[in-house]
Amino acid sequence: MRCIALMNQKGGVGKTTTTVNLGAALAELGQRVCLVDLDPQAHLTINYGLDPTSDAVNLYNVLIEERSFLEAMYTFDANIVLVPSSIDLAAAEIELVSVLGRETILKERLKSAQHDFDFILIDCPPSLGLLTINALAVATEVIIPMQPHFLALQGVGKLLETVALVSRRMNPLLKVSGIVLTMFDSQTKLSNEVVNDLKGFIENAKGKPLPWANAKIFESKIRRNIKLAESPSFGQTILKYEPQSHGAADYRALAREVFAHNPSAIKPVASPIAASPVPAATPPAPAAVTHVAPKAASEKKVSVTTKPIEERKLVAAKVRIPPKPAPTPAPPVTPAEIEALT
Ligand SMILES: Nc1ncnc2c1ncn2[C@@H]1O[C@H](COP(=O)(O)OP(=O)(O)OP(=O)(O)O)[C@@H](O)[C@H]1O
Ligand SMILES: [Mg+2]
Repeated sequence: MRCIALMNQKGGVGKTTTTVNLGAALAELGQRVCLVDLDPQAHLTINYGLDPTSDAVNLYNVLIEERSFLEAMYTFDANIVLVPSSIDLAAAEIELVSVLGRETILKERLKSAQHDFDFILIDCPPSLGLLTINALAVATEVIIPMQPHFLALQGVGKLLETVALVSRRMNPLLKVSGIVLTMFDSQTKLSNEVVNDLKGFIENAKGKPLPWANAKIFESKIRRNIKLAESPSFGQTILKYEPQSHGAADYRALAREVFAHNPSAIKPVASPIAASPVPAATPPAPAAVTHVAPKAASEKKVSVTTKPIEERKLVAAKVRIPPKPAPTPAPPVTPAEIEALT
């Protein structure tokens, strides 16, 4: 199983759009996919037509109230399961402050659920706080959605520093699989300059004992496409909303590329700084995408709470976030804090 955190502390770069549509495209390839909404903004949840203010069991109940992960899984289509978020999740970072092992709660909960997915995609919030650290502690991979504008590289150093720390201290399996360029416009000189800068940066890491040593810039760039912005308000993925659009084509191409590029399957460089050895068992290299036989729904072993489509609240356009102010989020976990905790 591959567990991918879609991460970038910069807001509005396409994390949620990529989680939704990469997930849908992987499911279309016959992969069993679980999407986890780790963002209190709950955009992924809303994108799937669920109301984040409802009483449905959600990730907050799982992380804070120890409800089972399986209770919070809602099935969509044959191969897609969603674990929704709730605005309460904004308080989770504060509520978890005094909890022992607070960085690995998501990992523990996922471990205790008897699930059988090919991919888990985690939509991270736009911060490097405790929720994102929880995603990194359980993920095997990080994909960084990035908009190629002139501030794109700003913040990448901090992001990678956080990945490196978590990889070193908590999760030696963690690798950066790549950067996906979103809202891309190949016509602009700037986009191409940013791509070249990123390429140079990644080339520099090759052969080094860094989690991003085998990262790539995905060839499948996600073009700016208005259909991608429209589809959430219909509670649909781009593959359903506008299957012939550029957006659908780009996410289908990305899914094939992500499927074929599994950095965990690449032999790791021996790391003199690794705190604990990388486990010997690495997942086998994936077969070519064209050979993926779609799995019949009956083969699904995952046991989930199902919700008939008509029961779902298709409320994307109607969702009301209550006016009461959200609690002040906990400050991002600093590298020094992570060092001190582990
Ligand atoms: N390729 C695209 N073309 C056009 N619009 C896009 C594209 N990708 C994303 N958008 C739109 O850009 C906005 C931000 O995208 P998205 O919500 O996916 O970013 P995010 O990184 O998840 O944001 P946040 O950091 O707030 O969670 C949304 O309105 C989305 O519909
Ligand atoms: Mg988002």
